[in-house]
Amino acid sequence: MNRRVSSKIAWRVALAVGAAVAVSPVLADDFGPVPQMEVDAKKAALGKRLFFDPRLSGDAAISCATCHIPEKGFGDGLALSKAYPGSDGFRNTPTLINSAQKAAWFHDGRIGTNLNDVTRESITETYSMNMDMRLMQERIKQDPAYVVMFEEAGFGEPSNGSVRNAIPEYLKTLTSRGAAFDTGVMTDAAQRGFELFTGKAGCAQCHSGPRFTDDMPHNTGVPDNPDIWSNPMRHLTFVAFGNFMGVENYMNLRRDVGAHVRTHKADGSDIGKFMTPTLRELTYTAPYMHNGTIETLEDVIAFYNQGGGDDPNKDPRIKPLDLSRDERANLLAFLMSLSGDPLTGPEHVWQEKINVNYPVIDDWLEKRN
Ligand code: HEC
Ligand code: HEC
Repeated sequence: MNRRVSSKIAWRVALAVGAAVAVSPVLADDFGPVPQMEVDAKKAALGKRLFFDPRLSGDAAISCATCHIPEKGFGDGLALSKAYPGSDGFRNTPTLINSAQKAAWFHDGRIGTNLNDVTRESITETYSMNMDMRLMQERIKQDPAYVVMFEEAGFGEPSNGSVRNAIPEYLKTLTSRGAAFDTGVMTDAAQRGFELFTGKAGCAQCHSGPRFTDDMPHNTGVPDNPDIWSNPMRHLTFVAFGNFMGVENYMNLRRDVGAHVRTHKADGSDIGKFMTPTLRELTYTAPYMHNGTIETLEDVIAFYNQGGGDDPNKDPRIKPLDLSRDERANLLAFLMSLSGDPLTGPEHVWQEKINVNYPVIDDWLEKRN
């Protein structure tokens, strides 16, 4: 703990003298501001328009921002997400802030390659935006504003490959900033909460580094959300997902197996493991956990204080903490100090109305592309 605290002082000093904060892989458990990423401004601007454009979905009715809402920390405030008509969500919509710096995506970590693949998945998945990439490309090519923007961004003609590059470039701009924890204006209560977090409460064993996550799946025993099994539309969507992911006995499952869809352990010891989420921007992103079953941060702390949930595969580090009322309040103050400026201004949100009343291209069928 001493090393953590002293290195934290070191980056505070670095901040004070205006030096760049270097993230050293040796100090993976170090804490500090999330490093801002280098971004190609033109590609990111294009990605921003695409992110807010409903024409990327099959029925041209939902955009990425329908579920990833800027005012809600790029989550949606629902326990379980919405989905494309004819299906319904079975997971909580995660924040996209700092998501470009993750090692694996989705609550089960099933995509471990890059954001280009996550973008493809989000656009084409039937229960997400249900879009055929070829149709998307045709739609975009007909919009004169996009033709100019793709050209100016150095992509040439609009193509599905460049959409999958432009949106991740925009996601890189969604980086936390201005949290009290980073600017050195933490209250005494929050400071004491940080000490509990790295000490007695043991939270930093999993929530480490600038984003407060080890990017690994663990079982904390979060209870299942019964709505997935009682709501036919959600259940249907989950069954289709389980089938597609090759989960055994998917018709009879009454729980979300989590990381098991990726690791398929024969002994089932990976069932119920979910990726450690970031603890940044939590004040915007309630309710919590992969299925939104915990409504407030007070309840999250109570959950950990009682030793997590009930699960035979629960991680041994999750055990009763015996935190006093004051300690719980301090821990809460600390968690709140990790939320920064809302990313809701023009830098992060496409402001102009997206004009879809451009003239139709007469000889479209003859036109070479
Ligand atoms: C219908 C709601 C919905 C729409 C539309 C949607 N998402 Fe998501 N998004 C989700 C949900 C729910 C998850 C978590 C899914 C899971 O864990 O299985 C998610 C996960 C993600 C993640 C992974 C975040 C993480 O921390 O692992 C990224 C990145 C992402 N979405 C980007 C996008 C982009 C880009 C678009 C538009 C092309 C988009 N999403 C459209 C609901 C949506
Ligand atoms: C063994 C690893 C581990 C430890 C220790 C741990 N967590 Fe977590 N934490 C997780 C995982 C995994 C999840 C996601 C569980 C899920 O979605 O079902 C999570 C979720 C959370 C969330 C919800 C975030 C969100 O956006 O949904 C909060 C808040 C949180 N933890 C705070 C804490 C605090 C405070 C402590 C210490 C008292 C702590 N954690 C200890 C692994 C851990």
